[in-house]
Amino acid sequence: MLSKAWKNRPFIARLPLFQILRHQSDDLRYKPSIDTQERAKSVTSFYNQSKIDAIASKDSVRLVPSAMLYTYKVSDNSDILRSVQYLHKELPVRIAHRIAGFRNLPFIVGCNPSILSVHELYIRAFHLLSEFPPIKDEADEAAYSKLVKQLLDDHRDVVTSLAEGFKQCSRFLQDEGMVKTFLDKTLTSRLGIRMLAEHHIGLSEKKPNYIGIICVNFTPKTFIERKVEVAKRMCEDKYGHSPEVKINGHLSCSFPYIPQPLDYVLHEMLKNAMRATVESHLDTLDRMPPITVTIANNDIDFIIRISDRGGGIRHDHLEKIWDYGFTTSGQTEDDRVSRGLFGQFIESRAAGAMHGFGFGLPACKAYVEYLAGSLQLQTLQGIGTDVYLRLRHIDGKHGSFRI
Ligand code: ADP
Ligand code: COI
Repeated sequence: MLSKAWKNRPFIARLPLFQILRHQSDDLRYKPSIDTQERAKSVTSFYNQSKIDAIASKDSVRLVPSAMLYTYKVSDNSDILRSVQYLHKELPVRIAHRIAGFRNLPFIVGCNPSILSVHELYIRAFHLLSEFPPIKDEADEAAYSKLVKQLLDDHRDVVTSLAEGFKQCSRFLQDEGMVKTFLDKTLTSRLGIRMLAEHHIGLSEKKPNYIGIICVNFTPKTFIERKVEVAKRMCEDKYGHSPEVKINGHLSCSFPYIPQPLDYVLHEMLKNAMRATVESHLDTLDRMPPITVTIANNDIDFIIRISDRGGGIRHDHLEKIWDYGFTTSGQTEDDRVSRGLFGQFIESRAAGAMHGFGFGLPACKAYVEYLAGSLQLQTLQGIGTDVYLRLRHIDGKHGSFRI
């Protein structure tokens, strides 16, 4: 039921903000995912922020992965209860920080429907999570985990929506630094939130070889092979062909690690290498040079190098490739690429596009640095590109990052 005060507002003030904006713009792609009552609640929060502000003023409590690994070694129910009680306190604080980030965006950016839809999602998540009663027993824990799982799913397209939004308002944006600061912070903080949430859910699910989100015997070779399969399938959907991928180096190494963020990073890097290889060998698709992935492992970190022979990155593009929104997608003049005559040209939001928003490199760099690693690139113009992904071990022996 809508409150009396809400019903008594003038008609325009009762409209959800996205509908007011819909009157102002026909370039809208808002996909309703929140029911009307919840949206009304979200929107009233644009006017009544005091609770969000109070919680946003608190600092987040960040965990080191080694503590997550060893504390929950014997996952009995008291561990799970402690974990959920931490999450119950922590998630509203982190989400309130994100809402503060959206509120600080320039008005013209904050009003973009795609960006606004993400802002609304966070306000909704804040209400649902901060109003959840204290968790005292297993039944409360199960209900809370169900809510968190649902939210993880509701928020799965956040990065695409932000990419769409920033693309739509790029002509209004002069301050590149502002965009980078906002996106680096929003994306890495979201990664942290999702890791914590998935860790808790994973603790209850007790998947073999996993403690929460930590795979206790992570094997880079097997992981890379799986990512290669997915990227190859996408590449074949788009171009009808895909290059071979060879993996060498420390093939048998295995150690505890968190695969989840690597999933995204490796996918983006493999897609880039495959796209460059195919697009630079349009006349010799049956003889494309392979992509080589090398794994190196040592006490401090592990390194994954992806070497392609996709022609390299032009000198005048090199400075820009780490900027959000920089892409050469759509610039290729060869009809076989631009019209997708190879294969069926299947690019959907669900399947994930082969390229297009110019988010891959900057977002991956931000994620990897959040994980105390580095992402570097060496290119040989005319030949190809080597990407170096360095990641620290999470055993805590040589310092670590905090989630
Ligand atoms: P997108 O893939 O959406 O274009 P990215 O941020 O992943 O966004 O990449 C930005 C640009 O950098 C690409 O459009 C492409 O021009 C260039 N690039 C990235 N990786 C490679 C590579 N391995 N070889 C050649 N060019 C690359
Ligand atoms: C996100 O994925 O954007 C989140 O913040 C997830 C959280 C609401 C559980």
